[in-house]
Amino acid sequence: MTAESWTVRRILAWMQQDFAARGIESARLDAELLLAKALDLPRMNLYLDLDRPLAPEERSAARDLVQRRRTREPVAYILGERAFYKHTFVVSPAVLVPRPDTETLVERALARLEEDAEGPMLDVGTGSGCIGLSLLAERPELVADLVDLSPDALDVARRNAERLAVAERARFLEGDLLAPAAGPYALITSNPPYLREDELGDVEADVRDHEPHLALVAGVDGLEAHRRLAAGAGAHLRPGGALLLEVGAGQAQDVKALLASAGFRTLAVHRDLGGVERVVEGTWPGA
Ligand SMILES: C[S@@+](CC[C@H](N)C(=O)[O-])C[C@H]1O[C@@H](n2cnc3c(N)ncnc32)[C@H](O)[C@@H]1O
Repeated sequence: MTAESWTVRRILAWMQQDFAARGIESARLDAELLLAKALDLPRMNLYLDLDRPLAPEERSAARDLVQRRRTREPVAYILGERAFYKHTFVVSPAVLVPRPDTETLVERALARLEEDAEGPMLDVGTGSGCIGLSLLAERPELVADLVDLSPDALDVARRNAERLAVAERARFLEGDLLAPAAGPYALITSNPPYLREDELGDVEADVRDHEPHLALVAGVDGLEAHRRLAAGAGAHLRPGGALLLEVGAGQAQDVKALLASAGFRTLAVHRDLGGVERVVEGTWPGA
């Protein structure tokens, strides 16, 4: 095959086939995203000239990205960003890649902020900042404390706050769950780690081998962080304030019981777009 015959169309087909043969489910999408990155184009522009031959340096850039994806490095880390809710967030291997399921938590938080538009609010285990910063972008009066145990994650959240032009309304606090919390808050959100220690071996290689284990694993039953958040959050909430926790599949009823025994009222469970019970909501009494 001559070098000229490596057109956009052919290299896309080759990348797709290579990824699919390795069991990567999103083979076509990954091929498009990575080739667009190698060519420094928006993805849809690939289709404007499918018969364009690639220059040698473009082929070499594409091959390097294919090598990385073959190791199951998540596409979001290779691209350095991921779309979430209404914005694109910088990501690095220090943070969990934001998941569409987490948008359910953002929607529910926005509903709670109808009454308390200024907050303040607290986002625990903020990672990329995708939850707290999306809320700051939607509510121009809102102020937020964003907590993470990982200083590297907080650096990523800070970069995202700058990009979304909300940094002056955010504080970035390093520490263990609620330890750095001030409050009292109108709202506390958290998508804490929720895998059991023995589950890590079963999750797909993209997650297990590349995402930070601090973001994934929470003790022998996966509920260690939820237990501590349920027990401690009330002390940092205003009367009538809300606690919203994301949970793993099958954990919602256990977490609802944790909130009930900690004194939360008006408990509710919300499903994500896939129909999975994903968010547990409780209200701190006394309003
Ligand atoms: C599941 S990730 C969620 C990240 C982000 N909020 C999201 O929804 O994509 C959990 C985050 O909690 C942080 N974390 C884990 N244990 C923590 C702890 N004890 N205190 C504070 N943050 C913690 C991790 O560093 C990680 O950023």
